[in-house]
Amino acid sequence: MKLITAIIQEDKLDEVREALIQADVTRISVSRISGHGRQEDIDIYRGRRIAPNLLPKTRIEIAVNEDFVEQTIDTIIAAARHGDGEIGDGKIFVTPLEECVRIRTGERGRSAI
Ligand SMILES: Nc1ncnc2c1ncn2[C@@H]1O[C@H](COP(=O)(O)OP(=O)(O)OP(=O)(O)O)[C@@H](O)[C@H]1O
Ligand SMILES: [Mg+2]
Repeated sequence: MKLITAIIQEDKLDEVREALIQADVTRISVSRISGHGRQEDIDIYRGRRIAPNLLPKTRIEIAVNEDFVEQTIDTIIAAARHGDGEIGDGKIFVTPLEECVRIRTGERGRSAI
């Protein structure tokens, strides 16, 4: 199992959710966060590099079985990109997921996802 965490632009959330549903990825957690990525033009104030402003972003988290990883990533990319891709479109992180438990039934692992 993997945990797919994507940070996307707020305006793309509905498009991404819609596309994931069409790709049969039906479970998702969403949070509103703020962050910044790499700085193309680093701001310098009195000789020191200064932290850029935090921008509002949307984080989605999806736990999937191995056979869903690639289609989930591809779907997020296709739906979250502005045009041919713009700075700040976002990032996807994939981390190993050790366990998943459905609280209602106590099921574990793939069938609990
Ligand atoms: N390495 C990282 N660690 C943690 N959060 C990150 C990282 N990279 C990006 N983020 C988060 O993702 C958001 C979007 O990142 P962003 O798309 O700007 O990435 P980037 O590496 O700067 O690429 P680009 O050049 O396309 O802008 C950031 O605002 C931040 O919240
Ligand atoms: Mg950036």
